[in-house]
Amino acid sequence: MCKNPYRLIKAQVLDVITETPSIKTIRFKPEEPMSFSTGQFFEITVPGVGGAPFTPSSRPSQKDVFEVSVMRVGKLTRVIHELKPGDIIGARGPLGNGYPIDYFRGKEILVLGGGCGFAPLRSLMYSLFELSGQFKQLYFRGGCKNPGEFLYRREIEGWYERKDLNIQLTVDKGDDTWKGNVGLVLNILDSVHIDYKTAIAIVCGPPVMMKFGTKKLLEMGFSDEHIYLSMEKNMSCGIGKCGHCRIGTYYACKDGPVFTYSKIKSFPEIWD
Ligand SMILES: Cc1cc2nc3c(=O)[nH]c(=O)nc-3n(C[C@H](O)[C@H](O)[C@H](O)COP(=O)(O)OP(=O)(O)OC[C@H]3O[C@@H](n4cnc5c(N)ncnc54)[C@H](O)[C@@H]3O)c2cc1C
Ligand code: FES
Repeated sequence: MCKNPYRLIKAQVLDVITETPSIKTIRFKPEEPMSFSTGQFFEITVPGVGGAPFTPSSRPSQKDVFEVSVMRVGKLTRVIHELKPGDIIGARGPLGNGYPIDYFRGKEILVLGGGCGFAPLRSLMYSLFELSGQFKQLYFRGGCKNPGEFLYRREIEGWYERKDLNIQLTVDKGDDTWKGNVGLVLNILDSVHIDYKTAIAIVCGPPVMMKFGTKKLLEMGFSDEHIYLSMEKNMSCGIGKCGHCRIGTYYACKDGPVFTYSKIKSFPEIWD
């Protein structure tokens, strides 16, 4: 949690990049260096419109510029998509917890992502790549509906060149541009051969993928406390005051958004 969670840092739009028909990445220059741990989020406020939580998709070590990739779903995200270079927004944070990267050192790690989940996962992968060689093995398994909706497609396809990553990508439905695997992302988990009892799994994607992804990981032998989920609950205050983001006895904004499955599995509403 930041020292003063109510303080807004002004940030200027540098660039707006169209990623897919529904997702744009906005690059911001904050008026002061912005620190965050991968997995933490900011409340982004557009003056006169409102604010909402967004997780940076950029490199946490880069403090003079940050990026968020935003899916257009409603009023605020529509306005964010229309931002132009030079426009000013406010950012409050960083809020919530991040991924416990230090705990991951020395372990086998599987990152499982789907659709818009690639946004926070790109930031996570940057952090893991910066510590290259400090993990026993690193796997990335990612899937999208179709090649046109593959967020950061060119960049992520470039990860096949990395020697420190075992990567496989898939789409539910291919097209002429797609030479890779076709099928559900859960099917490409079968090519992951690690010690499931001690390995770490990180899952981020649409709720249905998180739900069935977790189920499959448990069947494979991953332990409850080694499965990390990023939970996107509706939020308002972002600092554990209003109760909007409750998951059982926890608040996703304060105690999360990153939770181990063991911590929240007893609450019935986690996949809602
Ligand atoms: C911790 C966290 C991190 C997030 N990071 C990102 C991100 O990096 N990129 C991104 O595109 N989106 C992210 N979201 C979701 C984003 O906050 C919502 O899409 C946004 O609030 C929608 O605002 P709107 O006014 O455009 O839509 P609204 O008109 O408010 O809602 C449109 C639809 O989006 C759903 N929705 C609204 N608010 C949220 C919310 N807070 N969480 C989940 N669903 C919501 C509504 O149920 C409705 O179905 C994140 C959410 C959380 C909780
Ligand atoms: S958003 Fe208010 S308690 Fe979490």
